[in-house]
Amino acid sequence: MKKQKVLVTGGAGFIGGNFVQYMVNKYPEYDIYNLDLLTYAGDLTKHREIEEKPNYNFVQADIADKEAIMALFEKEKFDYVVHFAAESHVDRSITNPEIFVLTNVLGTQVLLDAAKEYKISKFVHVSTDEVYGELDFDPTTFFTEETPLQPNSPYSASKASSDLLVRAYHETFHLPINITRCSNNYGPYHFPEKLIPLTISRVVNDEKVPVYGDGKNIRDWLHVLDHCAAIDLVLHEGVNGEVYNVGGHNERTNLEVVKTIISTLGKSEELIEFVQDRLGHDKRYAIDPTKLERLGWIPTYTFETGIAQTIQWYLDNKDWWEQILSGEYQSYFEKQYILK
Ligand code: NAD
Ligand code: TYD
Repeated sequence: MKKQKVLVTGGAGFIGGNFVQYMVNKYPEYDIYNLDLLTYAGDLTKHREIEEKPNYNFVQADIADKEAIMALFEKEKFDYVVHFAAESHVDRSITNPEIFVLTNVLGTQVLLDAAKEYKISKFVHVSTDEVYGELDFDPTTFFTEETPLQPNSPYSASKASSDLLVRAYHETFHLPINITRCSNNYGPYHFPEKLIPLTISRVVNDEKVPVYGDGKNIRDWLHVLDHCAAIDLVLHEGVNGEVYNVGGHNERTNLEVVKTIISTLGKSEELIEFVQDRLGHDKRYAIDPTKLERLGWIPTYTFETGIAQTIQWYLDNKDWWEQILSGEYQSYFEKQYILK
């Protein structure tokens, strides 16, 4: 029987990286292809333990490079695409929106064209709850799959645009697709520009932690491995054309998150520094995951167990985030993949 080939885009990033490791280990009978441009957010050192496995492959390419993407699909004849590659940081989208449109919108369209041309069996587009905009502080309101898209940042606007293209390729060309919209992830290999890993690394080093505004904005946190399991389920069991929200009912204010990390590490709350608020800062995100739960998904981490595991992981893997902060990780690709 032909081995199933799975193309994972953005597999050198945080969530894509965890997903690549999850798939390589769970499905030795699949060939997993990690396609990544290796931007500032792409780090291959995280794959040291899987890079020699026979079912792991790495390709460096830009998803917006039509020629390269078409040539790769022609050569490899993928069965599935799981699409993570994106510019993902809201603050960067405020200072430089253009790259968000190029990668998140144009890049997705190039992949959709290739998926259509080479008749893949399923395209899973990994999106975000941020496409729905913001909720107010009423704890009984949630984003459902029917909530209208009302993105507020250039990042979420670019992701919403890509969601609509995915939908359009399904409607127009009958491309088999699913879209997942997940809440904020945390866990191992989270790039230390985002709130949780930034706070852990700063607190460990007794540095100030910048909290935007009054710290009362709410995010709904999900452990990255629960997200990986959700995408695996949608890839194999998702009903063609459907959108699935992913979230585990773990709403916390930013201040609660920061204080939890500080107290777990036994440090002082004097490290907290309130700074100028983010422009267009969304008040609250909260997911209703009922539809995915009906498909059989159950998260395994509570915020308490997940954040404790994550803090311990950052303490045990200081080398990893120190080489990210120093920029040293960027030479690993040359050493391992070009000079080899
Ligand atoms: P990340 O920034 O950690 O990783 C993105 C990866 O994409 C990097 O490895 C980068 O090198 C790669 N990449 C960027 N531009 C590329 C291009 N032009 N061609 C090929 N590769 C390119 O992001 P993440 O946090 O792992 O998020 C992954 C996906 O999940 C994104 O689509 C994001 O919108 C979505 N998402 C993230 C969260 C979250 O909390 N982080 C929540 C829900 C959904
Ligand atoms: P972030 O991790 O950037 O994710 P997102 O903007 O996609 O939700 O930010 C999470 C929350 O933390 C968000 O409300 C902004 C806030 N935040 C801070 O207060 N300080 C920081 O240094 C960062 C990076 C984020």
